[in-house]
Amino acid sequence: MIISKQEDVTGAVIGAMSGAPNDRLRTVMASFVRHVHAFAREVRLTEAEFEFAIDFLNRIGQATNDAHNEAVLFSDAIGLSTLVCLLNNGQDGASETAAALLGPFWRANAPQMENGASILRSPTPGAPLFVDCNIRDGQGRPMSNVRVDVWQASPSGMYENQDAGQADMNLRGVFISDENGRFSFRSVKPAGYPVPTDGPTGEMLAAQKRHPYRPAHLHVLAYKPGFKTLITQVFVDDDQHLESDVVFGVTRALIGDFRKGQGTPPAPDVDGDWFSLNYTFVMEPGEAVLPHPPIK
Ligand code: BEZ
Ligand code: FE
Repeated sequence: MIISKQEDVTGAVIGAMSGAPNDRLRTVMASFVRHVHAFAREVRLTEAEFEFAIDFLNRIGQATNDAHNEAVLFSDAIGLSTLVCLLNNGQDGASETAAALLGPFWRANAPQMENGASILRSPTPGAPLFVDCNIRDGQGRPMSNVRVDVWQASPSGMYENQDAGQADMNLRGVFISDENGRFSFRSVKPAGYPVPTDGPTGEMLAAQKRHPYRPAHLHVLAYKPGFKTLITQVFVDDDQHLESDVVFGVTRALIGDFRKGQGTPPAPDVDGDWFSLNYTFVMEPGEAVLPHPPIK
């Protein structure tokens, strides 16, 4: 098609793409082009802004490596990851536990451990935390043999792969739920942390006068063939950033009851404050697929 005016461009592009044999590709790309073109018209995108945006995208790619995924981080910081997550998963806890972002820091192949074991693999600051959770199906029946992957940042604010001071796989572990649907482990009470701000996403946050903090949380990925993989996070109830998570990941049902321990601690080496967390996860039947790890 020969273009006569700017209004012609959108139809020309969608027409050019209309021969794609894959229906879904045709639908998604036509909608994408319609919305991107509408966006450019709505803001009357200047050439300088377009050039900046292209450079920004290129820099997202350049900032991505085996240990860091800037594209995930950017999608998170504009709320797109949470939107996609909630579009595709339970969000109100009615039939399954609300989903939350996988985030950029999940690693496959964390060590499998016995229930009750500690996921600390090098000295880690923070109050001891004893986590004791249940997994149920939609009818409230205990689910055994669920493979539960847990991971969290150190209270110093970094995941082990970001921090040479932590042992490999520190604060990561895989547990198998027992015949009562229980899994348990020892850790430290998570602390909030800033997402990495040394790339283009950090530049955007600064330009928007946004803080980079995520409220403290524990990540969970629960996997069992025949059930939809549950990817979620449990948030610490007293965190100051629950209402302003930089990646919009907090839903009310996911705020956990991190209770300050009373009386005799569950392990003899504990002195000082300690905490417990009990939480029940609900999984629903579906396809058990694992995400691609965003990092190695
Ligand atoms: C995380 O929770 O690990 C995370 C999620 C989104 C962006 C950065 C970190
Ligand atoms: Fe996290």
